[in-house]
Amino acid sequence: MNPAPANPVSFERAAELLRGGEVCAFPTETVYGLGADATSSDAVLKIYETKSRPRFNPLIVHCADLDMAHEVARFDPLADRLAAFWPGALTLVLPLKHGAGLSDLVTAGLDTVGVRIPAHTLARELIAAVGKPLAAPSANPSGRISPTSAAQVRALFEDTVPVLDGGAAETGVESTILAVNEEQATQLRAGGLPRDLIATRLGIEIVLANEDGSVQAPGMLKSHYAPKAHLRLNAKKPEPGEAWLGFGPDRIEAGYSLNLSPTGDLAQAARSLFSSLHELDAAGVATIAVAPIPDHGLGEAINDRLRRAAAPRDS
Ligand code: TXA
Ligand code: MG
Repeated sequence: MNPAPANPVSFERAAELLRGGEVCAFPTETVYGLGADATSSDAVLKIYETKSRPRFNPLIVHCADLDMAHEVARFDPLADRLAAFWPGALTLVLPLKHGAGLSDLVTAGLDTVGVRIPAHTLARELIAAVGKPLAAPSANPSGRISPTSAAQVRALFEDTVPVLDGGAAETGVESTILAVNEEQATQLRAGGLPRDLIATRLGIEIVLANEDGSVQAPGMLKSHYAPKAHLRLNAKKPEPGEAWLGFGPDRIEAGYSLNLSPTGDLAQAARSLFSSLHELDAAGVATIAVAPIPDHGLGEAINDRLRRAAAPRDS
């Protein structure tokens, strides 16, 4: 088992733990990841154990650079064009290169692999220092909100997981996931890189995966991003006893109120989304009324996470 970590751990210690087949949480620009050597099944199993994940979902493989990404996946011309957004908050689901040495547990036995080159410099330096791609889901116990700071990782795992501190996550929501197949891009998950921005820049169409359709990111449980509090979305104002999570200028006074972005800036709202939910949860509020968020740009990912956080918790 892991030695009790003196948290946060140094860069050298994080690399040493990962090289030795242990898990270590590390910063990315989206959210903190719980990393392990993607080529070692023993190491990847420790991710599932640590997160108490109910079942095996495929994990994103984080690479230091394009060379490493090309070692694990096959890129068609469209994938090559999409790779121009790297390093960044974009995960591409591509055909797996068999023989690349990835653990089956990373792909959950699929013929595809989710690949990402993170924009956070420390993340890329860590992967390069380990010398192996890192499998990393968000660094939270299964079903809890993703952490955007080292302090949140420490709190979520009660300091039992070593974490490399790289400051507050700049983007604040997970990566956008696109499956690329036969020159067609399908969005499996809205995320930190807005779909409309990618489509406009490349002059392509990005179709949406059906909620219950054939193409879907496995493991995207409806209630995945669950705070303890109940959420009431698209609220005009809080009812008595409710906490308030606002967006844009408002003068709402509630027992406990936070604002995702008083100026109505979606990037700022994405950045503060998970930390606001963590803060309201820590305050022990029962219900959070949430202001409407526009559904364009980053709003697509924010609304996706809010809907999941508000969904019934049976799974
Ligand atoms: O921003 C992020 O993406 C963060 C940071 C740490 O990089 N990671 C993250 O990982 O959000 P996770 O495990 O919480 O979500 C990964 C999603 C899952 O819904 C999984 O099913 C999907 O990616 N995924 C991974 N590989 C896939 C594949 N081959 N096919 C379809 N979906 C895949
Ligand atoms: Mg997650």
